[in-house]
Amino acid sequence: MESTYFKRFRMEVDLGAARRPVSLPSDYRFVPWTEAVLDLHARTKFRSFRDEIDSVVFPCLGNLEGCRRLMREIRNKPGFLPQTTWLLAHGSSPETLQWCGTIQGIAERGGSGMIQNIGVVPGHRGLGLGTCLIERSLEGFRAHGLRRVALEVTAENSGAVRLYQRLGFRRIRTVYKVVDEAPVVA
Ligand SMILES: CC(C)(COP(=O)(O)OP(=O)(O)OC[C@H]1O[C@@H](n2cnc3c(N)ncnc32)[C@H](O)[C@@H]1OP(=O)(O)O)[C@@H](O)C(=O)NCCC(=O)NCCS
Repeated sequence: MESTYFKRFRMEVDLGAARRPVSLPSDYRFVPWTEAVLDLHARTKFRSFRDEIDSVVFPCLGNLEGCRRLMREIRNKPGFLPQTTWLLAHGSSPETLQWCGTIQGIAERGGSGMIQNIGVVPGHRGLGLGTCLIERSLEGFRAHGLRRVALEVTAENSGAVRLYQRLGFRRIRTVYKVVDEAPVVA
C-alpha cells in the first residue's frame, strides 16, 4: 500500500485584541445551530469540499455519507460549541433559498477553541463569506470565555492559508497527515 504525506499547518489566533467588524453581503443570513440543521451542515460541507484538496486528505469529505458521519462526530464531541457553529443561507423564499456556508467549533481540553471545518460552496466564494463565518464563530468562542482559537489547514490550500493569515491566525506547528492509498488491482 502506498502512502502520501500531506503537510498541514496548525494555526492559532489570540482573541485578546479587538477585531474588525464585518457584515454579511445583502441577502445572506446566519442560521444558528439546532439539531434540525445537522443534515444541512453535512450537505453544505459536502458541496464545499468535494472537489477540493481536503477531500483527498480526508476522503470522508468527498462523499455525503462521510460528511454526515463527520457532522455527527463533531456534534457528539464533549466540547462541541453550538454558538461557534453556523450555517449561511442565501435568499429567503423556498424557491430561491440556497445553503452556502458552514463552520463548526469545539472547545479543546487545555482551554483553547478549535475550528473544525469551514466551507463556502463554489458559487458563493470571494464575497467575504468565509471571513464572516470565521468572525461569527470567533465571537462564539469569545463568548464561551476562550482566548485562543486554532485550526488546521493543508499547506497547499494557499487561498485558505492566506485568508487565515489575513484574519490574524499564525502558524504555530507543522503536522503531517498520512493517507494510505489502496493499490489499484489490474
Ligand atoms: C477557504 C474558503 C472557506 C474561503 O471562503 P470565501 O467565502 O471565498 O472567503 P472570503 O471571500 O472571505 O475570502 C477569500 C478571498 O476573497 C477576497 N474577499 C474578501 N471579501 C471580499 C469581498 N467583499 N468581495 C470580493 N472579494 C473578497 C479575500 O480578499 C480573499 O482573497 P485572497 O484569496 O486574496 O485572500 C472557501 O474557498 C472554501 O470553502 N474552500 C474549500 C473548502 C476549504 O478548503 N476549506 C478550508 C479548509 S481548512
